[in-house]
Amino acid sequence: MANGQLNLLFSFLLFVAIIQFGIFLVDSVPKVPCYFIFGDSLVDSGNNNELITKAKANYPPYGIDFPQGVTGRFTNGRTIADMIGELLDFDEYFPAFLVATDSQISKGVNYGSGAAGIRDETGSHLGGRISFDRQLRNHNRTLSRLFHLQHNTTFTNEHLSKCIYIVNIGSNDYINNYLMPNFYATSHMYTTYKYATILVRKYAQQLKTLYDLGGRKIVVFGLGLIGCTPAEISIFGTNGSPCVESINDAVRPFNDKLKPLIDELNHDNPDARFTFINLTSISSLQEGIGLSNVPCCKVRVDGQCAQNTLVCPDRAMSVYYDGFHPTEIANTLIASMSYTALSPMDASPYDISQLVRL
Ligand SMILES: *[C@@H]1O[C@H](CO)[C@@H](O)[C@H](O)[C@H]1NC(C)=O
Ligand SMILES: *[C@@H]1O[C@H](CO)[C@@H](O)[C@H](O)[C@H]1NC(C)=O
Ligand SMILES: *[C@@H]1O[C@H](CO)[C@@H](O)[C@H](O)[C@H]1NC(C)=O
Repeated sequence: MANGQLNLLFSFLLFVAIIQFGIFLVDSVPKVPCYFIFGDSLVDSGNNNELITKAKANYPPYGIDFPQGVTGRFTNGRTIADMIGELLDFDEYFPAFLVATDSQISKGVNYGSGAAGIRDETGSHLGGRISFDRQLRNHNRTLSRLFHLQHNTTFTNEHLSKCIYIVNIGSNDYINNYLMPNFYATSHMYTTYKYATILVRKYAQQLKTLYDLGGRKIVVFGLGLIGCTPAEISIFGTNGSPCVESINDAVRPFNDKLKPLIDELNHDNPDARFTFINLTSISSLQEGIGLSNVPCCKVRVDGQCAQNTLVCPDRAMSVYYDGFHPTEIANTLIASMSYTALSPMDASPYDISQLVRL
């Protein structure tokens, strides 16, 4: 597509996205009773603030466009998880696990942790992080509290089966593991294909655990175009391409195996409704649009924003806020297209709006 057409397409999509968020009803009833969030820095709302790690975003200029300012979110404004919560008509953001109170946990909790991965060792060179395995153990602890508070196992099980669960994890198993041969052994041990196989096999067990913990409507995000992030481009160079193609090639088998896994989980567990969100298709659209690929903030060598530095004035024109993380406007597009998919390629077998009604 020519650039002009892409721009037009983007304006249209953004218009659709903003309309969805525009209908912000006061006192609206949420479309589902509860919403639980698992993942990495793409959804972290402050879980890493208490950890000793370089992977934290609780300083300016993060949060510059967020109503509460700096919270630990790795972007200028709202995350994908925040925006999906809004589309579900929740009128509050979901508390980080460590601070969630008894009265909040029946509606949902955010377990996301920057630098975390499917594999436990992922992100360890940066310091503390809550791996997906630990997020699932934390969820189990939340459920113990909930069963105790609600005093009625049947009721709580029914409640949990109606919630939306989102899982957005796996990028760090590349960025902060496989692509760092000096810190991690994985790239010395496995081909990219074998690594994807091993990752997806572990992910399969973890997603089954989420099901065993009562989850039924589970939204699983594939990985985006990691080779197109400004940080990876500056580390590896592109040889004239717009992106680091070797990285996109390494990640592709993960996505290609994840989608059939989702179908298999649905097949093996007839009351489950897992769905796959294709971030490659959504982010290739963003990349193609001609939005700036330059980070909005001044980045450190590790790709995060340097503290207290100036940011670009027009944040609606950039895909990336720092070297890795999307801006709020990019998050708007991702959330909106996972909620109401424009093409069956974006979300299958269901988009979130369909999942809500099942
Ligand atoms: C959840 O916790 C219970 C104990 O409270 C334990 O028996 C069970 O194995 C745990 N499940 C998972 C998946 O961690
Ligand atoms: C427990 O919850 C179920 C499902 O909501 C309900 O039918 C049942 O009456 C409840 N039991 C008690 C003792 O309240
Ligand atoms: C994601 O969408 C792109 C098209 O935009 C397609 O080429 C790719 O095969 C899709 N990935 C999966 C795993 O379905």
